[in-house]
Amino acid sequence: MTGVAATGAALAGALVLVGCGGSGASGSSGAVLSVGASYMPQPVSADMAAGFLTITNKGDTNDELTSVTSDAAGEITMHETAGGAMQEVGSFKVPAHGQLVFKSGGNHLMFEKLKRRPEQGDTITLRLKFAESGPLTVEMPVKSATYNPSTGH
Ligand code: CU
Repeated sequence: MTGVAATGAALAGALVLVGCGGSGASGSSGAVLSVGASYMPQPVSADMAAGFLTITNKGDTNDELTSVTSDAAGEITMHETAGGAMQEVGSFKVPAHGQLVFKSGGNHLMFEKLKRRPEQGDTITLRLKFAESGPLTVEMPVKSATYNPSTGH
């Protein structure tokens, strides 16, 4: 998890440098994104898995998560849970000075057409694409099937 945070911070740092590089810029820092708390519970089947993470935006501009891809899965879709039912969403807003949270029982990533069944101890590499910011790479650890981050420490 530290590795993920470090990667996100490094990329976010690069964005800050780009955003502030020119003198007389607009003064806006744009979206400054980092990713933390990512994990995938070991799936019960080889067909489908869920994944969770938190994207933090320290900048003063909204951004939007538009797609998630990985070599480990043929397709990754983004779902929200509303009224107990989940539905696919095309993109998720990452609010300025806020967070986009994917967590058990709420928003989640759905991995389909898995190349092989992820097992505890594996790491899944994801690429997140955004409407405004450059892409972020996330190393998502596979945890036990019953892992719960609120009690997992
Ligand atoms: Cu779903």
